[in-house]
Amino acid sequence: MKLTDEERSNLDGTGGEPLRIATQVLVKLGDSYDAERLVPIASAHLVACSYQIAGEAGIDVYARLVEAGARVRVPTTLDPGSIDFVRWEAFKTPAHYAQRQLKIAELLQAMGVIPTWTCTPYYALNVPRFGQHVGWSESSAVAFVNSVIGARTNRLAAYVDLCAALVGKVPYFGLHLAENRRGQVLIDVAAQVGEHMQGEDFAALGYFIGGLVGDRIPVIRGVCDASVDQLKFLSAGAASTGSVALYHVVGITPEARTLDEAFQGGTWEDVLPFGRRELQDTQDRMSTFRAGKVDVVGLGCPHASIAQIEEYLRLLAGRRIHPHTELWVCMNDVVESVARQMGYIERLEAAGARIMTGTCLNDCPLDAWQFRHLVTDSAKFAYYTPTTVGSACHFTGTAQCIEASIRGYVGEGHDE
Ligand code: F3S
Repeated sequence: MKLTDEERSNLDGTGGEPLRIATQVLVKLGDSYDAERLVPIASAHLVACSYQIAGEAGIDVYARLVEAGARVRVPTTLDPGSIDFVRWEAFKTPAHYAQRQLKIAELLQAMGVIPTWTCTPYYALNVPRFGQHVGWSESSAVAFVNSVIGARTNRLAAYVDLCAALVGKVPYFGLHLAENRRGQVLIDVAAQVGEHMQGEDFAALGYFIGGLVGDRIPVIRGVCDASVDQLKFLSAGAASTGSVALYHVVGITPEARTLDEAFQGGTWEDVLPFGRRELQDTQDRMSTFRAGKVDVVGLGCPHASIAQIEEYLRLLAGRRIHPHTELWVCMNDVVESVARQMGYIERLEAAGARIMTGTCLNDCPLDAWQFRHLVTDSAKFAYYTPTTVGSACHFTGTAQCIEASIRGYVGEGHDE
């Protein structure tokens, strides 16, 4: 790789040990992908900030970096941690576990990060513009920032993201190059599906695509409209079942104003039809139980927006959730603060819901709850929570999730 004088002096250790190690990691990564140079980034987003991911080894690494004077060089936000920093006791998190997460928070903040603790940093505090290079991890956020905003990042691994933040650069390869952002697979959405898609349909579309395209770049044709929240659902689904880091939706995302632009004048390697049958088959596959008592309904994956919270309240319509069912709504601190000022948090809590910030059902220890049956509208929760929470999962629409939280059951024959 061609290195600048400053990068060479970083490697010599002139800027201190953290900068030397971080630069070395990035240069080795770049060399292995034949990158010609490092490129400056506008921001970083870190994933190994949760105790669940970082563990004791991460605490050891962070403590050594802080002792050696490490500081991030670009605005750097954090993915969810493993506790609700305010309500961890109410969520039955063991005290020793919470203390370890708090230790990680203390160490990362000593390095100058912005403590957002969210997978939706793009709602506030870390909003890149089109075409900017960034160094992000968190699969759903990477897919969103590449596809919906048109900023450029590879899907960074834990700790490589921190190296990017410490150096303020990433190796210039992969999705940082315009020619590598060309679509490869055409997803042909049938007109009956594409004209009236709900949030759960976008989640299922993402789940379908990720499972079939792997790390290739899909171009979706036939979707008539999509809100930012619906694209967030699509991003999370595609990045869970596959390694999709960038997709295009013709007429909607910024690098796909036309089909031709999405494929950069070329053509596709494969065509995958997505009609009513594929939609139904995918939604069926996303559930591991069809009917029964519901222990917990998980909403806000990725973290909920104000518009989604308004939708939850509209669907609740003043009703209370069932006494044997939990309704957990995950969001970030910024959204919670605004929703509180709007009276929304009080109304959700009055209905019996719990607000979870700083983490999510997938990232915090839930053994004490013994959840067996989870209902969600999120493709990512549907994909991961059977393993992380250890529960069976029923995937459905947001409206049906709210109904399940009120009835305490899904399926027929249990109305009380
Ligand atoms: Fe975010 Fe947790 Fe879902 S990190 S994307 S709410 S699994």
